Amino acid sequence: MKTQSEAVIRPARSIRGSVQLPGDKSISHRYAMLAGIAEGPSRLENYSTGADCASTLGCMRSLGVRWQRSAEGQNVIEVQGRGLSLAAPSMALDCGNSGSTMRMLSGIVSGQKFTSLMIGDESLSRRPMERVIKPLSAMGAEIESQQGKPPLRITGGSLKAIDYKMPVASAQVKSCLLFAGLFADGETRIEESVRTRDHGEVALRSFGVQLNRKTIGAGSEVRIRGGQRLHGLEARVPGDLSSAAFFLCAAALFPGSQLVVPNLLMNPTRARLLDILMQMGLHIAVTQLDEVHGELVGSLQVEGAKLKGSTIAGADSAALIDEIPVLAAIAPFTEQGIEVRDAKELRVKESDRIAAVATNLRKMGAEVEEREDGLKIAGGQSLRGAELDSFGDHRIAMAFAVAALRADGETQIQGAESAAISYPAFFDTLEELAVRI
Ligand code: S3P
Repeated sequence: MKTQSEAVIRPARSIRGSVQLPGDKSISHRYAMLAGIAEGPSRLENYSTGADCASTLGCMRSLGVRWQRSAEGQNVIEVQGRGLSLAAPSMALDCGNSGSTMRMLSGIVSGQKFTSLMIGDESLSRRPMERVIKPLSAMGAEIESQQGKPPLRITGGSLKAIDYKMPVASAQVKSCLLFAGLFADGETRIEESVRTRDHGEVALRSFGVQLNRKTIGAGSEVRIRGGQRLHGLEARVPGDLSSAAFFLCAAALFPGSQLVVPNLLMNPTRARLLDILMQMGLHIAVTQLDEVHGELVGSLQVEGAKLKGSTIAGADSAALIDEIPVLAAIAPFTEQGIEVRDAKELRVKESDRIAAVATNLRKMGAEVEEREDGLKIAGGQSLRGAELDSFGDHRIAMAFAVAALRADGETQIQGAESAAISYPAFFDTLEELAVRI
């Protein structure tokens, strides 16, 4: 069992400084998987430092992919691609806490002529996998699970293409099926009714895969032909926007904040947070914008201001799914509060994030209305320091470290080590940016 650690957060007066984010988690996973099935070497700079992306690398190693961390730095990964045929693993593929690893990699192992056992930690073992089991089985994979939950035993082989309309808005499922589509006979077509992050599509193209994309209403269609070969990639992973969200929200708590964020991922399917924070009153200037391997990367200059409220619903709830916990955690400090609807997916993340946010805000003295698919948190409330639990969830630990900066008195967060799932240096960086005198 892992030892639990406590983080103590003292109130701050503002946020000041510059923060260089670790590589985006979503892109790091996809690059590592595609580099493994590419032909020839890849070099991935600023690869995510989070434990989740290390889980993906561990699984790729178990599947016979050779990779190493470069002498230049721990976050530079050199991968020797094997092409589409991986090696049968001699042990279980341990996905740790990472739903992305299990769901997306299941698409790749479904195309392999061997059996893989995919396992995860206690939290991952509670998460729904039916969303990948059903379409992958329709493509021809044989999958055993524990009533739709991990572990998954996947026997792959020759797959047939499918035409699939996803019932749940999930970029992980979309990427899983596009990856499986590479091993299928014919053309796979995936339709989503709500647009989700498109890093799978963008990454596939960067590795030399041809695919067709079309907007359909509020969603999209992607088509991919099987049998395409991937070439290696040399790329730098842009800074993680979902990790930046914690510092942006921290800056938003104090009108006097000044924050610079260079090299940040600004892909439009991820950047809705910036619109919402600007609508709420935060000043954000984009001082540089480049396109790197199909991904927009920018630098931000942020100034705190008084925060209005917001309603997050419909397509926005899918677009902001990872940022809702921190937005909700700062909601009491906004003028009109924050209402979140259409976000029941939050109940099946690393923790039940709706319940976790409501529990912690109440411990800090806030009034919160908890609903099946969201939360309503009134503005103009003050919070007091309290003893909180991370519920073993990295985003809950970090969200409440942010809220604690404007609470009265000290806050202790139990299970703070879970931040390392996506951002090991988070608490140190927050301390460096917090102004206290
Ligand atoms: C992710 C998609 C989202 C998100 C997760 C990462 C991805 O999950 O919550 O942190 O990289 O595709 P869903 O696909 O379950 O919505």
